[in-house]
Amino acid sequence: MRALTVVPLQAQSLRVEEVPDPIVGPNELLVDGISLGVCGTDRDIVAGNYGWLPPGKSRMVLGHESLGRVLTAPEGSKFAAGDLVVGIVRRPDPVPCGACARGQWDMCRNGMYVERGIKEIDGYGSTKWVVREDFAVKVDPSLEKVGVLLEPTTVVAKAWDQIERINQRAWFDPRKVLVTGAGPIGLLAALIGKERGLEVHVLDRATGGIKQELVEALGATYHTGTAAAVAKQVKPDIVIEATGAPAVALQAMEVDNPGVIICLTGVSTPGVDTDVDVGGLNRNIVLDNAVVFGSVNANRHHYEQGAAALAKADESWLERLITRRLTLDNALEAFQPGGTDIKVVIDLS
Ligand code: BGC
Repeated sequence: MRALTVVPLQAQSLRVEEVPDPIVGPNELLVDGISLGVCGTDRDIVAGNYGWLPPGKSRMVLGHESLGRVLTAPEGSKFAAGDLVVGIVRRPDPVPCGACARGQWDMCRNGMYVERGIKEIDGYGSTKWVVREDFAVKVDPSLEKVGVLLEPTTVVAKAWDQIERINQRAWFDPRKVLVTGAGPIGLLAALIGKERGLEVHVLDRATGGIKQELVEALGATYHTGTAAAVAKQVKPDIVIEATGAPAVALQAMEVDNPGVIICLTGVSTPGVDTDVDVGGLNRNIVLDNAVVFGSVNANRHHYEQGAAALAKADESWLERLITRRLTLDNALEAFQPGGTDIKVVIDLS
């Protein structure tokens, strides 16, 4: 079969190659790959800045945003040939830590988790793949064109789930959310914000174009300019930072509004020096009872929440998030820096 493989931490190592077909283990589904979404994490791995090679291997199959169709399922499985499925990204650590033992692998406490296509285990970027059925999620057949957006949706479903829990620390009636960044994560966070009945504001540096159209089609307000200026005008109760750009992340953390909850979702590149008035920042966080927290990955519960959010959304809006579809033959184009795409998807079939 063909696969998109890479050597983590080695730039320019990405290639499409012939690899042996997967061997189906006990309780595993054999899946025909339909599509693979590409995100900032994949680009970081391809640039040589992130990722962990599977032990004993010289290359790793890339890709964690999956969608496929079941070819074979074990006897008595709740899956059947023909079902659409998405594979969960993270596997709990083997110890396991308390969080992983409770199915909350997204909150792993010892860092020994593995992630398909990212950390120590092959991903879903191949024409066929296998997945243990307890790490597969059935997707409604109506989502065939957009089901590949489930994994990024789970990441924001988790962020919202955490915000909701933090909300419950005291009386709070949030009305406004500011999302920084109108990439896939920002737009999906905005979608869920609208589904929750909030007034949604999205900030991005692109002036006009598809990002603005998509934000306005949700009934949300699009802003350009600095996060600091927009936050002053909007006075958000919740901020979801989805750019990972150090300057924007800092301005998100500096949002000054009593009770504000600030969720950081962008995995940024370390080493960028920024002047910070730590005294001012600390004072605002304390006097506002503010919460600044990070959120990564998703557990099964978030996959269910993400699937529900996608099912409720306007399918044509979701389709517009996918601005480019490539084949495996020209898959490397998905990793070129720059460009104005929202979500690039590689067709595996
Ligand atoms: C993935 C997450 C993963 C994170 C860190 C993100 O792109 O969506 O599942 O936990 O990268 O590796």
